[in-house]
Amino acid sequence: MNGAINAHQKPRKMIIAIDGPAAAGKGTLAKRIAAHFDFKYLDTGSLYRGVGLKVVQMGGDPNNEDDALAAAQQLEFDDLDGDELRTAQAGENASIVAQMPSVRKEMLGFQRRFAQAAKISKGGCVLDGRDIGTVVCPDAEIKLFVTASAQVRAQRRHDELLGRNEQSNYETVLADLKLRDKRDTERRVAPLVPAQDAHLLDTSKLDIETAFQTAIDIINSH
Ligand code: DC
Repeated sequence: MNGAINAHQKPRKMIIAIDGPAAAGKGTLAKRIAAHFDFKYLDTGSLYRGVGLKVVQMGGDPNNEDDALAAAQQLEFDDLDGDELRTAQAGENASIVAQMPSVRKEMLGFQRRFAQAAKISKGGCVLDGRDIGTVVCPDAEIKLFVTASAQVRAQRRHDELLGRNEQSNYETVLADLKLRDKRDTERRVAPLVPAQDAHLLDTSKLDIETAFQTAIDIINSH
């Protein structure tokens, strides 16, 4: 059954892991799923964006693992919000620090504690990222791998940047996305890869409403 549900119609306690490449629409989808079930939501990309931003604010170099780890160790919940996290530069720095094993290790405990606490306090949670179904929550009850073609993702990201009055050029956005895909999929630690038991959801030709309903049907039929 689709549409809004009441708390008593909540599915049994569950962690929903949503992974996929940049700008595939997983953030929008994850937020809507969390709101629908009244679950907690964590955008795990904001952790790496927060580290990337903090390292610069601390006068460090995002390419230096010691600097990035120092920033990761000082990251606080308040650092995970704000417009500056969403800029192209913050995304670029995030994808650099996200390659570093010590930074990922530092973030792992935070994400797992969040997921377990939310499962107990709210009955469930939705985490979106790159390695949620494979590394952070391999026992998640539901795993979705959300993708779209690089061209569709670049167009969406381009429109989003223009919508925020940021300068943007489609070809540059496409090239940046391909670079980030390469970094995310080829890194040694926790690369972007669908978990074996993930449901694949290609949103290239789906609007957000259809993608949302498809995801809800998958979750409800679990
Ligand atoms: O989803 P996003 O664009 O906000 O993610 C920013 C960067 O963080 C992305 O290049 C990859 C990295 N990331 C990651 O390595 N693991 C996650 N669970 C989430 C994001």
